[in-house]
Amino acid sequence: MSIEMKQRPEKIRLNVYRFDPEVDKAPRIDSFDVPWVDGMTVLDTLFYVLEKRDGSLAFRYSCREGICGACAMYINGSHRLACETQVARLLDEGHAEVRVMPLPHLPVIKDLVVDMTRFWENYEAIAPWIVTRSADPEKEHLQSPEDRKLVDEYVGCILCGSCFSSCPSVWTGKEYLGPNALMKTWRWVADTRDSAAEERLGLVGNERGAWRCHTVFNCVEACPKDINQTTAIQGLKRRTVGAMLRGSKALKAGRKALER
Ligand code: F3S
Repeated sequence: MSIEMKQRPEKIRLNVYRFDPEVDKAPRIDSFDVPWVDGMTVLDTLFYVLEKRDGSLAFRYSCREGICGACAMYINGSHRLACETQVARLLDEGHAEVRVMPLPHLPVIKDLVVDMTRFWENYEAIAPWIVTRSADPEKEHLQSPEDRKLVDEYVGCILCGSCFSSCPSVWTGKEYLGPNALMKTWRWVADTRDSAAEERLGLVGNERGAWRCHTVFNCVEACPKDINQTTAIQGLKRRTVGAMLRGSKALKAGRKALER
């Protein structure tokens, strides 16, 4: 069987969003021609510009292998990780050029670097750690493979902020926790080692939390790790209503019950 090699251009046009709020009156797009290298990613093209053409270009990255979530950007009209997005794939999708924008609907600090403060504050607000009522075990809290499967998908989140940036309820509701914090709440509610499920539901069973999700599904489409945040949020709604009907006291306990 022969493998058909596609003809690639000698160089690719990269269009990058530029904006420094401290000196620029308005954002602009800068264009650069980047020499083609087989296997190159969008992050590689940004490095080419940084090292050879314009050392002032600002972008975030760390692991370069889709684990840290730092290089989430809006690339050719979709939320993607720059380190995992092959330029060849963009061409195969029908794009003639590469266009890189910062995560939409987040304040720009500089160029492709956005302010994630609200995202991280919301994550911290849901107490993203295990809460147990029993004495600590000698080594660790063990979990069966079957129980681990209940949370596997959600543990895979790399906190890149793509879902948060894509959600209209986040854009319009300054208090809304957003799909990531809610999905991560479900991650702990569904974790059989955690003892504070109903206190967690009390944190998010309100207008700041799950009730504000209007099942738009943008978050699911934006997630580079194929996590279904909407299913998790539906789970929160279902469980919260059940706890309310039972008159759960723990629902009212609030954040204090979750402090370490
Ligand atoms: Fe937003 Fe996702 Fe709900 S896009 S409205 S959190 S389904």
